Amino acid sequence: MDKDRMKSYRSFLKDSIRKTIDFSQTDQNRGIAPPPVEKPYAKEGKRIDLLKWDEWGDIGKMDLKTAIKNRESRRSYSDKSLSLKELSFLLWATQGIRENLGPGHARRTVPSAGCRHALETYLFVFNVETLEPGIYRYLPVEHQLLFEFAEDHLDKKLIEATFGQSFAGESAVTFVWTAIPYRMEWRYDIDSHKVIAIEAGHVCQNLYLAGEAIDAGICAIAAYDQEKMDALLRVDGADEISVYIACVGKN
Ligand SMILES: Cc1cc2nc3c(=O)[nH]c(=O)nc-3n(C[C@H](O)[C@H](O)[C@H](O)COP(=O)(O)O)c2cc1C
Repeated sequence: MDKDRMKSYRSFLKDSIRKTIDFSQTDQNRGIAPPPVEKPYAKEGKRIDLLKWDEWGDIGKMDLKTAIKNRESRRSYSDKSLSLKELSFLLWATQGIRENLGPGHARRTVPSAGCRHALETYLFVFNVETLEPGIYRYLPVEHQLLFEFAEDHLDKKLIEATFGQSFAGESAVTFVWTAIPYRMEWRYDIDSHKVIAIEAGHVCQNLYLAGEAIDAGICAIAAYDQEKMDALLRVDGADEISVYIACVGKN
């Protein structure tokens, strides 16, 4: 082990960097308008309405104690498809907006440093009722799905981009969260990146617990080929970067 290299990477876990920042000079404090709460999209794109809170019936009624007790990582899924209702619930649980506070600010079902919410949610849809397979993006403000594109052999490409983790392509749907770092940097400058990683953990934990409540297995994935995943999602890997993945399939 190269001790110096290790030491420098360990510094990512610290918050020492905060003391080096002149916060009066952040974009927020210089009066620059906040970036939008969700990545803009072409209005003529195909959008699918998701079901809302009062349309879910019994979905999500499992008691929290049971959900926490039973949570585990599951990498093997049945052929049962996920309903749009169930997917709506999972998306709400992970990134749903509970209060819109005007341009650039919204409170969600998960916490985020400074309420900056730097993540976007992409879905590799393989087996969801009424949805054609392909890549979609969640639009939290509209509580809709945006159809991004379809491609041949997406399952194989996803498996390849996760270093051969086959369950990634055998799921009903695989979530990939990207970060748009500027949303956090606008407020916290170079003290943004650790909290973005923490935020992703909150999101995925909600997915695990919500998955329990709909009898679905979840497995987080952090081992993936960065460049292949960014290319697969058609994001630039600089201003938008894939950071975390989780597979979902019915038990
Ligand atoms: C940050 C993070 C990254 C993970 N990455 C992977 C992964 O790439 N592949 C995988 O099969 N499991 C992955 N897991 C799941 C862990 O292997 C799993 O949580 C751990 O073995 C404990 O099992 P449990 O979740 O069932 O309690 C990851 C979990 C976390 C929290």
